[in-house]
Amino acid sequence: SQPINCEPLKALVRGVPDFPKPGILFYDITTLLKDQTGFAQLIDAFAQYYIDKHVDLVLGIEARGFIFGPALAYRLNAGFVPVRKPGKLPAETATIKYDLEYGSDSLQIHKDAIQPGQRVIIVDDLLATGGTMLATTQLVKQLGGEIVGLTVAIELDFLKGRAKFPDMDVFSLMHYD
Ligand code: PRP
Repeated sequence: SQPINCEPLKALVRGVPDFPKPGILFYDITTLLKDQTGFAQLIDAFAQYYIDKHVDLVLGIEARGFIFGPALAYRLNAGFVPVRKPGKLPAETATIKYDLEYGSDSLQIHKDAIQPGQRVIIVDDLLATGGTMLATTQLVKQLGGEIVGLTVAIELDFLKGRAKFPDMDVFSLMHYD
């Protein structure tokens, strides 16, 4: 299988200066999503990477992991599991609390969402500090899932989030420095 050329995909991501705060350059994927070939190429590239890795479940992180995760799960013949902000999931949940620059946040998963030994990938739009992804890996471990890989559309290389996952396979399609 051919390595995919990500430059055309990067060209579809819109950089929005000073959002949500002054000094932050926000990488807006809505311009990629609305592009008929761009969105397909992105999901195809993820699928190509994982198609032979026997993935049982794709976990998507709220909110933008819910855009890529189900499309990828469909392509892999895998199930989709949402990892959500607190108070959204109706049945019994496992919760992980994690630190932010100021304060903390939590994520939840249904306790019965993963059976021990199931092979899982975690999908989100963006890897920045890696805090959100790290918390999600801890939820998967609590439930006994086996993490096959971590998948993001965009990695902000300068924040070195990848360093939080020395023992895991991190697959990113687009890199920014
Ligand atoms: C963004 C992004 C990732 C996370 C990455 O979500 O979609 O989930 O931040 O940052 P980190 O690697 O530093 O943890 P956001 O907090 O904007 O939440 P939202 O998707 O609900 O808007």
